[in-house]
Amino acid sequence: MSDSQTLHWQALGRDHHLPPFTDYKALNAKGTRIITRASGVYLWDSEGHKILDAMAGLWCVNVGYGREELVEAAAQQMRELPYYNLFFQTAHPPALALAKAIAEIAPAGMNHVFFTGSGSEANDTVLRMVRHYWAIKGQPSKKVVIGRWNGYHGSTVAGASLGGMKAMHGQGDFPIPGIEHIDQPYWYGEGGELSPEEFGVRVADQLEQKILEIGEDKVAAFIAEPIQGAGGVIIPPDSYWPRIKGILARYDILFVADEVICGFGRTGEWFGSDYYGLAPDLMPIAKGLTSGYIPMGGVVVRDEVVHTLNEGGEFYHGFTYSGHPVAAAVALENIRILREEKIVERVKTKTAPYLQSRWQELAEHPLVGEARGVGMLGALELVKNKKTRERFADPGVGMLCREHCFRNGLVMRAVGDTMIVSPPLVIAEDEIDELIGKVRLCLDATAKDVLG
Ligand SMILES: Cc1ncc(COP(=O)(O)O)c(C=O)c1O
Repeated sequence: MSDSQTLHWQALGRDHHLPPFTDYKALNAKGTRIITRASGVYLWDSEGHKILDAMAGLWCVNVGYGREELVEAAAQQMRELPYYNLFFQTAHPPALALAKAIAEIAPAGMNHVFFTGSGSEANDTVLRMVRHYWAIKGQPSKKVVIGRWNGYHGSTVAGASLGGMKAMHGQGDFPIPGIEHIDQPYWYGEGGELSPEEFGVRVADQLEQKILEIGEDKVAAFIAEPIQGAGGVIIPPDSYWPRIKGILARYDILFVADEVICGFGRTGEWFGSDYYGLAPDLMPIAKGLTSGYIPMGGVVVRDEVVHTLNEGGEFYHGFTYSGHPVAAAVALENIRILREEKIVERVKTKTAPYLQSRWQELAEHPLVGEARGVGMLGALELVKNKKTRERFADPGVGMLCREHCFRNGLVMRAVGDTMIVSPPLVIAEDEIDELIGKVRLCLDATAKDVLG
């Protein structure tokens, strides 16, 4: 495509489009990047550049781009039954078959799914469902949900409130009442002089302190991502989850593991909860559920919670597109592909260990203070001083590095000065080599800019 075609799209963007999570003035000054097609782990932009997508879109294209089976599943379902709803005692085969398929891969004892259109809607559903649950059990005062600073649970009113992104809270008086936050297990950024293990215990213990401060009789649930994604691929110290599990066992509150990123194979297990041996009561899911080919989310619910909901009369909650038949057909086919091609097993036994060993090579780079990762997730902390963990002064180097990535045909995301990757689960070893080579190139270019 010609440059004039790109300029045409950019003008349409400026004149008519309000994109998500964007500084409009800054974008309009330079023009948006137009992505026109994709195949496997690669994207092409409107000027014909080939780009390795090390973010799998937005952490979602788990089976990679261009899977005809998913296209076919959608087309077939559109011909047969393009839409019907799940309200008022009706259902349709794709939603029911999908609920069963999810129950088969979910942790033991989680056999029901409430469908939504996105991860944010899933977390809105969580807030509604946990309060409804406690009310049915005769404890309507158990309403408070405890989340974590720098956690991300979506962008709707409930999602933004459950999350702990202070910039989001700053726009419009969030969180809404009844939501509290504790610190995140981000050792590199916040651990100070403590060892990772000491720090993991210290921040986990904040959960117990918070429960006691609020009163157990007022706390409905604790919500957390097994590994924080949008916060910067924050991998908790080994001491963290065991300590949290011990606290959860002592108090009568629900545990919500937000699996929107970790679910469907990202860690090399089906769910992040499997990776850490967690036993959640509710699991919000989205993204990898359909590999991003079509919007869909849901909440997977533990049997004991379902038994209570069964006694609660009507649950006044749902969406026009809950369990949309076309999305459900695509999700079913996506799960079939993940299972039959043993993609999750291959991540665990082959490609994730390879990615992680090559990722660690980057720790030697002069700009990199820490290289960390699990499964198909990786993060690099860019610092001025590797020993003291001193950061660059504002504006940081993350956005600079990200620009070098685009110039060199790589999508890598910047969260402040933390560079993160989350490639499609189907990435092959030679493509991992290419990814690492490009990251190194971009780090070198960034180092030249900032270290001279
Ligand atoms: C852990 C987590 N929960 C919820 C969401 C929100 O999902 P959605 O953007 O589909 O609303 C996200 C999105 O990135 C996420 O990472």
